[in-house]
Amino acid sequence: MIHKIILILGSAFTMGSVMAASSGDIFPNYHFEVEITDQPSLQRGAKLFMNYCAGCHSLELQRYNRTFKDLGIDPEIGSENLIFTGAKEVERMHNSLSVADGTKWFGSAPPDLSVTARAKGGDYIYNYLQGFYVDDSRPLGFNNTVFPGASMPNPLWQLQGLQKPVIEEHEHCNSTGECETNTKIVGFEKLTEGTLNDLGYQRVASDLTNFLVYVSDPSALQRLAMGPWVLLFLALLTVLFYFLKREFWRDIH
Ligand code: HEC
Repeated sequence: MIHKIILILGSAFTMGSVMAASSGDIFPNYHFEVEITDQPSLQRGAKLFMNYCAGCHSLELQRYNRTFKDLGIDPEIGSENLIFTGAKEVERMHNSLSVADGTKWFGSAPPDLSVTARAKGGDYIYNYLQGFYVDDSRPLGFNNTVFPGASMPNPLWQLQGLQKPVIEEHEHCNSTGECETNTKIVGFEKLTEGTLNDLGYQRVASDLTNFLVYVSDPSALQRLAMGPWVLLFLALLTVLFYFLKREFWRDIH
């Protein structure tokens, strides 16, 4: 409980209004419940990130050893299983894709994701990872409802399966009788089954989002751990000051 309160207060300052990034008109529009104290989820998220995202995206502001320490990963096991670039444990989480190559291959370079969760919010990433659909008009065959025209192909399509959008048409007529048809994506239909079911894939999206939220503000974990002690200290201080006040006012009538 106390963790939740501190987390809410902390993120109110840091994330602020950007949390409301996804609009009600876009599908999917799930709310993401941040659980950065859920260490197994963060560990799964880190593993997924290194396997499915790090080929294109770096985390320039984060070092491997900091990640291992915060997430309770044994440094030796981490170095062996999560560092694919030959980097040392103390190094930042670069990747070997240059901006020029990224732009040439994908149309726009994959951005560094160190602070994306702060800039756009957990909801955005969570929905983005679930918003890919097959679109043959796009260069790499994928489009995304949350970020229309994104140059990123769905890196997780084997887990999720391929999907196509379910489109609803609405006709709007103005007062002069002119009508136009608006289309809106209201859901997805599976074209091929992935290796995970819907719930399993949601967990993948959730673990990855959780990990990126942690990366965007790694000291939040320390703040959370310190919070209860600060509150306890203030409570003790209140008692102490109360007796002090009684002592000072004793002779004043
Ligand atoms: C094949 C390369 C590639 C892989 C693998 C990849 N991405 Fe991307 N990603 C891109 C590119 C390119 C963009 C830039 C899209 C654009 O600006 O059109 C991008 C953009 C993003 C964005 C920013 C979207 C925005 O609104 O700015 C997020 C978040 C993201 N990727 C998350 C991930 C995650 C999480 C993974 C792993 C599951 C991943 N990416 C794997 C290429 C990749």
